[in-house]
Amino acid sequence: MVGLPGSGKTTYARRHLKDALRISLDDLRLMFSGKTFEPRVEPAVAVAGEALMEALARYAAQAGVDLVLDATNVTRARRALPISLAKRYGLSPVAIYLECPVPIAQMRNLRRAVPVPANVVASFGQRLEPPTVDEGFESIIRVNTSTAPRTAGPNTNRPNSRDPSTE
Ligand SMILES: Nc1ncnc2c1ncn2[C@@H]1O[C@H](COP(=O)(O)OP(=O)(O)O)[C@@H](O)[C@H]1O
Ligand SMILES: [Mg+2]
Repeated sequence: MVGLPGSGKTTYARRHLKDALRISLDDLRLMFSGKTFEPRVEPAVAVAGEALMEALARYAAQAGVDLVLDATNVTRARRALPISLAKRYGLSPVAIYLECPVPIAQMRNLRRAVPVPANVVASFGQRLEPPTVDEGFESIIRVNTSTAPRTAGPNTNRPNSRDPSTE
């Protein structure tokens, strides 16, 4: 997933990627600090997130399930490792880009159970580099969450799942 805090990543994944294994960096932040933003634990969150990605990429490829990285992933630098892991284990890297203007993300952020500070949403907005196929993504699914109803989007996006009819 790629999108600002409050852009709707977790909501989208829960609705449309129900069968996928979701790695949530926010859940790791909560586990380590009880908060969704605590700079002190960010290095540990990065280490744990990478370890989970590596272990679960291998598992997902063997088990034939999709893996969702539920994190902001707003820079190309942050996306490089998940893309290379996907390729190493034979998974198709797909970006799901939750396009959302900063003011709307800020408004939705406030409705979250545990909001991140407003200036954090703004700074992610400044750093955002939209995903492109030249980074290595096989495809990019753009979801316009500023206007779309909450149920918008593909409901069977399982690029790494085995289709038994073709096996
Ligand atoms: N497409 C949408 N339209 C309106 N509200 C949404 C939409 N997607 C999510 N929301 C709401 O916005 C808030 C933040 O959504 P969430 O999925 O937690 O964002 P993220 O995981 O990107 O931080 C939640 O209250 C959620 O119900
Ligand atoms: Mg979320």
